[in-house]
Amino acid sequence: MTGLTIDELAIPATLDGPGGADFVEMTRVRNEIEADAAGNYDLAVRPAELLPLWRAQKYEPKRLFLGRVGGRIVARAIIETNREPASRTAWVTVEVLRDFRQRGIGAALYETLEAIAGELGTAVLQSYVMQGAYDSVERIVAPTGYGSVPRESPATRFLLARDFRLEQVARVSRLELPIDRERIERALGVAVASAGDDYRLVEWVGRTPEDRLDQLALLRGRMATDAPNAGLEPDNSPWTADRVLAEDEALESSPRTRLTVLAEHAPTGEAAGYTELDVPPEPARAISQGDTLVVQEHRGRRLGMALKLANLLRVDERWPGHPSVITFNAEENRHMLQVNEAIGFVPWGYEGAWRKEL
Ligand SMILES: CC(C)(COP(=O)(O)OP(=O)(O)OC[C@H]1O[C@@H](n2cnc3c(N)ncnc32)[C@H](O)[C@@H]1OP(=O)(O)O)[C@@H](O)C(=O)NCCC(=O)NCCS
Repeated sequence: MTGLTIDELAIPATLDGPGGADFVEMTRVRNEIEADAAGNYDLAVRPAELLPLWRAQKYEPKRLFLGRVGGRIVARAIIETNREPASRTAWVTVEVLRDFRQRGIGAALYETLEAIAGELGTAVLQSYVMQGAYDSVERIVAPTGYGSVPRESPATRFLLARDFRLEQVARVSRLELPIDRERIERALGVAVASAGDDYRLVEWVGRTPEDRLDQLALLRGRMATDAPNAGLEPDNSPWTADRVLAEDEALESSPRTRLTVLAEHAPTGEAAGYTELDVPPEPARAISQGDTLVVQEHRGRRLGMALKLANLLRVDERWPGHPSVITFNAEENRHMLQVNEAIGFVPWGYEGAWRKEL
C-alpha cells in the first residue's frame, strides 16, 4: 500500500498541548468508524472523555498506532494487555475509515499489533467488533448457540482470514428515556421486597467512598469471573483498593459523571452486587451503562433488577433530558437480558467477540 505511514501516538498530557491535535483527530476517526458500523453516533465519545482512559496506563497498559495517508489519520490500531504476570492475553482492535479500505491498511496495522504480541509472549489475541447491518443472509453462529454475525462483513472476512474464531455475541440494547417513573418505582418496590430486609442499597456519585473501596475492588474482580465469558479468556488482572482509586482519579478528569449503586448484605457486610451509569455532560447524548453484577452467591433475589431501577430513578430525578441508556450484554446472559427487557431495553446492535491462539 503506497503512501501509508504507521506511527505510535504518544498519549498527550492535555488536549491543547503537544500531541493533543492528533488525539482529537484520532477520536473523530474512532467515532466515524463506530458510527459507520452502528448506523448512528449514539456511542460517540469526546476527546476529553477518551483522554483519561488512555492516560490511565498503570493497571491497563495499552498502545495506540495511527495509520496515515498523506499525513491524514485514516486508521487506528490498539493493543491492550494487563499487568497480571500469568496473563498471556492481549486485546486488539484495527479500524480503517471506509474510504481507505481494501488497500491493505488494515492488514499492515494488524501485522504491527501481532508483532508486538509476539514480542510480549502473548498466547491469545481477542477482539471485540461492532457489527453493522449487512445483507448477507449467511451468518456465523456463536459456539454458545446465542447470537450470530454476518459471514460477509468486512470485519468477519478480515478476522477469519487471520485465523480468529467467533466465541461470543453481545447484544447492544437501548432504553428510551424518560422512564415511566411510576412504573419503575412500583417495580423497584417489588424487587426490594423480594430481596428482603437483609439487603440494602447504597448510592454514590463520582468517587468511591473510602469505606467502599475494598467492596468495589472485590466486585470488579468478580465481574471477570461471574459474568459469562463463553470461550474467551477473562481479564483476570487483580483488583485492589488502589486500582479502584486510580480508576476514580481517571474518571474525575473526565466530563462524565459516574453513578454507582451497590447492594450490601447487611448481616455480613458483604458486597452482593453493583451497577454503574456514565452520564455525559450534554443532555442530548446517550447515557452508557457500565458494569452490572450480582455475585453468584447472592443471585436469584431480584437484586440485579433493584440495582438498575434505583440508578434509573436517580437519573430521572437529577440528570433529566438524556435520550437513552445503552448497554452491552452477552447474548447468552439470559438473566441480565431478562432484567433489561422487563425494564424496556430493546435491541440496538450486536458485537462479536473473537479469539485467536498465537
Ligand atoms: C476490517 C477492517 C479493519 C479492514 O481494513 P482494510 O484496510 O480494508 O483491510 P485490508 O485492505 O488490509 O484487507 C481487507 C480486504 O482488502 C483486500 N485487499 C488488501 N489489499 C488490497 C488491494 N491493494 N486492493 C484490493 N483489495 C485489497 C484484502 O485481501 C481483504 O480482502 P477480503 O476481505 O476479501 O479478505 C475495516 O473494514 C474496518 O475498519 N472495519 C471496522 C472495524 C473492524 O471491523 N475491525 C476488525 C476487527 S479488529
